[in-house]
Amino acid sequence: MTVQPPLNMFWFLPTSGDGAYLGSKEGWRPPEFGYLREIAAAIDRLGFGGVLLPTGGSCLDGWTLASALAPLTERLKFLIALRPGILSPAMAARQAVAFDRISNGRLLLNIVTGGNPTDLEADGLYLDHKERYRQTSEFLTIWRAIAAGEPIDFKGRHLSARSAGATQLPFPPVQKPYPPLYIGGSSAAGIEVAGEHVDHYLTWGEPPAQVAEKFAQVREAAARHGRTVRFGLRIHLIVRETESEAWAAAERLISKVSDRAIEAAQARNARVSESEGQRRMAALHCYRRDALMVGPNLWAGVGLVREGAGTALVGDPATVAERLREYQAVGVDTVIASGYPHLEEAYRVAELLFPALGVQVGGSTIRQGREFDPGLEQKVAAG
Ligand SMILES: Cc1cc2nc3c(=O)[nH]c(=O)nc-3n(C[C@H](O)[C@H](O)[C@H](O)COP(=O)(O)O)c2cc1C
Repeated sequence: MTVQPPLNMFWFLPTSGDGAYLGSKEGWRPPEFGYLREIAAAIDRLGFGGVLLPTGGSCLDGWTLASALAPLTERLKFLIALRPGILSPAMAARQAVAFDRISNGRLLLNIVTGGNPTDLEADGLYLDHKERYRQTSEFLTIWRAIAAGEPIDFKGRHLSARSAGATQLPFPPVQKPYPPLYIGGSSAAGIEVAGEHVDHYLTWGEPPAQVAEKFAQVREAAARHGRTVRFGLRIHLIVRETESEAWAAAERLISKVSDRAIEAAQARNARVSESEGQRRMAALHCYRRDALMVGPNLWAGVGLVREGAGTALVGDPATVAERLREYQAVGVDTVIASGYPHLEEAYRVAELLFPALGVQVGGSTIRQGREFDPGLEQKVAAG
């Protein structure tokens, strides 16, 4: 039996709000800076390796937030979503380099071409799916050269730039040749851009066999460009000490979701989504409450009302660890997890699941070799 190395465990920053219930205002937490700061500080200390900050009309801007959070954290890497087309590649490269230097090499970039025309039009982007990915490819051609300090003279259909190389960017990024690039498109065009340009390919939590098929296509696309790509999984986790507690928590999470809310989400998806990734997520459950078990411990309840990542692994620590190992066996090395609410669930995942995964829970001030002594703890507390 081969021993698998520890997974990189990332978390998610709920920059459009958080709460204990999906589809309900009850207990809703707005994305106030003080709250997001608490989450960032907690996950940094708990030992998560990174945090994903999404982009979109309903999110607080990830760049600004990450710049404010970087000095308040020590190890956490910031996977900031970036929409090509709303920023020039040169400007985006300068921002990336500045953040990489401010944070001492803790920037990761998630390239988000986008799949919701309504949201994109609000940003002034009117291209169709095919042309959007063409623009993404042009953006990355320019961005990669400028961020690496290489000369470029490029004229594409949507974007162009002429740069003399390092003189355009005299202060290089900490990470070489540039901060790592991630992408999460599931369409043929998305997979092609992944193969040509990025370092890490991300998928939402489809069953492992479907994930494996997509990864094979990405590997094949990358090979055509003489490159290799690593893989990440974006999924929710509902981990409790026992299976029955975990399933009760899953039911509780959607206990206030009305049929009307599900119908509205389905209609919205049918009306506005051009995302192949979103289509694949919705096809798992077809918005039916009685079709939420889409694999062993794989539950699609979140996707009834939430766009994007719509599945969760639900179970006790050993079982969820085993299920994650199945994704690892098909190539995943990074898991971008989340749970509602994101502060409390970060603790649960770190304290219950990390030991089962062999991931070190950070923040311990106990000297090495000194075991936890409950007797001592009680004496100190009594004193
Ligand atoms: C892990 C992950 C994170 C994503 N984050 C965002 C995001 O922050 N904002 C957004 O609009 N789309 C996001 N997406 C959507 C994709 O970037 C992509 O634009 C969309 O799925 C359309 O591409 P496709 O048709 O190739 O699947 C994300 C996708 C994945 C897998």
